Amino acid sequence: MTSPNFPASFLWGASTAAHQVEGGNTNSDWWAREHGHLGAPVHEPSGDAADSYHRYAEDMRLLAQAGLTSYRFSIEWARIEPEPGFVSRAAIDHYRRMVGTARELGLEPMVTLHHFTNPLWLAREGGWHEDGVVDRFARYVEAALPVLDDVRLVCTINEPNMVSVLADPEVGFPSAGLPPGVPGVTERLVAAHRRAVDLVRGIGAEAGWSVATQAYQPDPGAEAVRDEYAWSREDVFLDAAKDDDWIGIQAYTRTRIGAEGPIPWAEDAERTLTGWEYYPPAIGDGIRNSARWAPGVPVYVTENGIATADDARRIDYTAGALSSVLECIERGIDVRGYLHWSALDNYEWGTYDATFGLIAWDRETFQRHPKPSLAWLGEVARANALTRV
Ligand code: BGC
Repeated sequence: MTSPNFPASFLWGASTAAHQVEGGNTNSDWWAREHGHLGAPVHEPSGDAADSYHRYAEDMRLLAQAGLTSYRFSIEWARIEPEPGFVSRAAIDHYRRMVGTARELGLEPMVTLHHFTNPLWLAREGGWHEDGVVDRFARYVEAALPVLDDVRLVCTINEPNMVSVLADPEVGFPSAGLPPGVPGVTERLVAAHRRAVDLVRGIGAEAGWSVATQAYQPDPGAEAVRDEYAWSREDVFLDAAKDDDWIGIQAYTRTRIGAEGPIPWAEDAERTLTGWEYYPPAIGDGIRNSARWAPGVPVYVTENGIATADDARRIDYTAGALSSVLECIERGIDVRGYLHWSALDNYEWGTYDATFGLIAWDRETFQRHPKPSLAWLGEVARANALTRV
């Protein structure tokens, strides 16, 4: 059965982040962290990742051939400005070629300016803990503007709520439950976002940022506890987007909130490879929460997906998620696109074990192996409708 109705110009895409797929991001704080030079070492380093720095055209071609119409990728501050004030023209040219390739393939490029990683020199200065970061970020964005020529959708900062958490190198990538946002860091992120929005608008593009939503679901009577809990972790970042051109919503799982705070997932709940509860409608909760804090701001789902070795579960999860996106559209929320996380299996911040990709690849040869879920999502995109099974 085919159900209505995604809007006519709805974007269908997949997302990646530079550090997770490019490989060799040696001037970044994450690279240093992976090798034990900054805080606690991680399980596994990123190394060559998927070598998408060189293979991006092949990756984009696979998405376009499947039927997708958009590709979200990030550009890497540590490559563009490997030393303070030195701007690599070669890196700028590289990312311009990526934008050009996306356009040639009929993919609307969505470019993220910051996706978790910082140049190592910035981390050594204190990163997001120091006030100077706001000017540093604005200077980087200004230097990167040539990449954005001909780009309509620009995401300034990916998941500022996670950046706020990751600002402390002793804190690993959280596998369950988000620690509270760090107040000074949150303020700097909002200030940096505002500076970037102005710069991006100055060249005629549309600016937004993408927020990690957690589907905070209050038990009856626990609404105030939920609001208190969610403010520094999520709602403050949605609220900060209310004057933006669009907002990116990302969701993977849910968090139920009782009178005492978060309630652990049920023992018998299905878990994904990241240990999160399998909960496809989380994205609907995230979209509705964005409509609460940033009403009227157009929404793009900029990430949504599942870490699984069972591609049939990926399709099932995504079908469930898209159903809840449709319900939001039917309620009148202006949702304009769905970009799946992720185009490729990738470096999940410390491990390659958590496979989120529509495309697998060989760790030695880098040969790409599209999964059935890519063909399935491409079919949905071509039909612009969800086939409910
Ligand atoms: C991030 C991605 C990450 C994904 C799955 C989001 O938090 O933006 O970089 O890989 O979720 O954990």
